[in-house]
Amino acid sequence: MSAPVAATTWDELRQRLVGLPDGAGVNVAFETIDRHVVAGHGDDVAIRFLAKDDPPDAPGEAYTYARLMAESARFAGALRSLGVGPGETVFLLAGRVPRLYVALLGALRGRHVACPLFSAFGPEPIVQRMVLGDAAVLLTTSALWRRKVAAIRADVPARHVVLLDVDDQADAPEGTIAYGDLVDGATELAIEPTPPETPSLLHFTSGTTGTPKGAQHVHDSVAMQRATTEEVFGLRRGDVYWCTADPGWVTGTSYGVIGPLSVGATMLVDEAELDPTRWYSILDAQSVDVWYTAPTAIRMLMRAGAELAAGHDLTRIRAAFSVGEPLSAEAVVWGRDELGVTFRDTWWQTETGAIMIATPHDAEVTPGSMGRPVLGIEATLLATDDHGEIVLDGDGHATEIADPDRIGMIALRPGWPSMFRTYLNNPDRYAKAFADGWYLAGDLARRDAEGRFWFVGRADDVIKTAGHLIGPFEVESVLNEHPDVTGSGVYGVPDPVAGDVIHARVVLRRGVAPTDEVMTSIMAHARRRLGAAVAPREILAVDQLPITRSGKVMRRLLRARELGLPEGDLSTLEGGSSS
Ligand code: WT7
Repeated sequence: MSAPVAATTWDELRQRLVGLPDGAGVNVAFETIDRHVVAGHGDDVAIRFLAKDDPPDAPGEAYTYARLMAESARFAGALRSLGVGPGETVFLLAGRVPRLYVALLGALRGRHVACPLFSAFGPEPIVQRMVLGDAAVLLTTSALWRRKVAAIRADVPARHVVLLDVDDQADAPEGTIAYGDLVDGATELAIEPTPPETPSLLHFTSGTTGTPKGAQHVHDSVAMQRATTEEVFGLRRGDVYWCTADPGWVTGTSYGVIGPLSVGATMLVDEAELDPTRWYSILDAQSVDVWYTAPTAIRMLMRAGAELAAGHDLTRIRAAFSVGEPLSAEAVVWGRDELGVTFRDTWWQTETGAIMIATPHDAEVTPGSMGRPVLGIEATLLATDDHGEIVLDGDGHATEIADPDRIGMIALRPGWPSMFRTYLNNPDRYAKAFADGWYLAGDLARRDAEGRFWFVGRADDVIKTAGHLIGPFEVESVLNEHPDVTGSGVYGVPDPVAGDVIHARVVLRRGVAPTDEVMTSIMAHARRRLGAAVAPREILAVDQLPITRSGKVMRRLLRARELGLPEGDLSTLEGGSSS
């Protein structure tokens, strides 16, 4: 157990920032862009964009730090010209194209709250998040507008919809604004004073019950993202860095925008989806020094066979990291033996804003273990009951597990700069994330005698599929809307590539038979409403669902039945505990 961290440690991290001139605070756009321009590095390439159809060795579209500064300032000016004020929320729904990054940084520059959404979301998750987040503006593309947004426009609170890929207002569908004409007429907005506690990014994350939770971050977070980028990744100015995560998820903002730009690196962004051959070509041809990816992607590479890497020089890769799901010992050994690349694990969450536990670039790798707490982070394991809930004694104290190898819940001592500040409009849920002075992560782990953490599993019912956190309640709510469905239970089952895939069991309306037609209609409804990333892979009809005394569907029991696991103990569990 590490000693409690003195508050000055966090101030030391903050001192690595330059801060706004005249002590006017901290702004993420300044720390990621302007500081490099001011220091004379404006001509360095900040981001190199490979479009979907670009070959992997294409020069791509290079955005220097100076260009990123001018364009994001112009976009911030454009938002002001639309009457969007500081503190208002700008939603971004687009693939990994340059203007998405410009707009994200522009929104932060203007002190708006930026909320990126994964572009594979269907209409339901989009509407729900935009309502919860009280969207003032939506930035999207004309294809996504046509396919997803136009039909739900009336349900979405945004005052303006801007189409990133439309230059001429004459080409913009009615009710939308062309990005090109909008920014052409705008003036560059100078950064205004930004107290470090000014809200910055909003990322929605799923729990087991209720609607998704909006984890609210602040500009101060850049101190932690910069420090972890330096210390964990060992990333420096001039390095080429590739984070394969989409900015719709926190990895794609904390380490797919903020961290790497804050140190002055050149970030590679590929618009295309994972293709093993393309990836090996990119790593080689683009001379990637540091690579951040995920176990789902590594498993897809393993499946495709290391032969595909033959002929590609991967020796330049100085360090490679993984996040989001357990990085198995097999994957580490495969990477080392077959690719000559040693994947190092990092553990964190949407709520923590930055890496908390990791095997840094210069640390020895113990395959299967996540590593140790980084920088000044104090992490522990707290004893839980059979329901995965923290055990508190009469005085409200939790029990820290001191013995090696006993399982407990990962808990962190709050206070680091990138810690989320609240769940938007949901103080009760925020309060429930803490006990006895600890932030409760909801993950179970072991700690060995040398202080390394080993991931065990989630303490609740949330599902990790292809690295994405999905709340079963969100999926069940959509299934239950289908006219033939009266109830449903959703859970994850292991999958060799995706980690878990989503399965659903539904009870049909009395008198309705589970014909192919009915089941196909339910599946089509789920895909249409939820999008491919969130819809169940399998939906089967059952006569009834196992329900607890308090009326909750016992998802873990459904899972155990499907997997043929012993049911005995599970049937007493109150499934669906809130998180
Ligand atoms: C959950 C958080 C912020 C990173 C992306 C996901 C799981 C995260 C690991 C790891 C095993 C991991 C945990 C965590 N997770 N990293 N190295 N090994 N599991 O952020 O969507 O908020 O998900 O991802 O279960 O609680 P997120």
